[in-house]
Amino acid sequence: MGKVKTCIFISGNGSNLKNLILKSRDYNFPIRIKLVITNNRDAYGLYHAKKNAIPFVCIDTKTRYFENQIFYHLKKHNISLICLAGYMKIISKEFLKKFGKKVINIHPSLLPKFKGLNTYKRILKNNEKKTGCTVHFVNEKLDAGKIVAQKSFYILKSDNVNTLKDKTQKLEYKIFPEAIIKIYRNI
Ligand code: GAR
Repeated sequence: MGKVKTCIFISGNGSNLKNLILKSRDYNFPIRIKLVITNNRDAYGLYHAKKNAIPFVCIDTKTRYFENQIFYHLKKHNISLICLAGYMKIISKEFLKKFGKKVINIHPSLLPKFKGLNTYKRILKNNEKKTGCTVHFVNEKLDAGKIVAQKSFYILKSDNVNTLKDKTQKLEYKIFPEAIIKIYRNI
C-alpha cells in the first residue's frame, strides 16, 4: 500500500509540521505530506514547507467561500488525511461532511479537560497536578472527537506558561507520529 496523501494545516510556528516532515521520510511511516494549508500568510511554519519543497496554500478565511477553496486544493492533491497542527480556526461541520475522510488534531491538554484556547494559563490557574497533550479525530464539536492518543506529565511548582508549553510540545513531537501510526496500523 502506498503512503497516505496528507495535508497539514498550520497557523503559526509549525514545529509539529517540521517534526512530521522528518518522520514522514521514514520508509515505514504511513503518510506523505503533499500539501500545507494556512490561514496566516506570515506563519513561520511555511518556512518548513518551502525548505522541503512541499506545496503550500494561504487561504483568506475572511472570504465567504474559503472552505470551497480549501476543498479544491485537497482534491487537486488527492488528500486522504488532514492533520491540524496548530491550526487556530474551526473546521465547519459542512466541510467535514464534504471532505468525508479522516481529520485529526493535536491539542495541548489532557482532553476532555481544557478545550479551546489559552490552555496553559487555565491549567496553571486551576492548579492541575498533571497535564499533557492529546491527538483526536475532529468532529463538529470543538476538541471533542474520539481520542487517538494522549501523553501526560506532572506539573512542578516552578512551572510557568513557557515551561509548560516546552514540555507539552516535546511530548507532542512523540504523540503525533505515534497517533498516525496507530490509526493506519488498524486499517
Ligand atoms: C501546538 O502546541 C498545538 O498543540 C497547539 O498549537 C501549537 C502549535 O505549535 N494547538 C492548539 O492550541 C489547538 N487548539 P506548532 O505550530 O509549533 O506546531
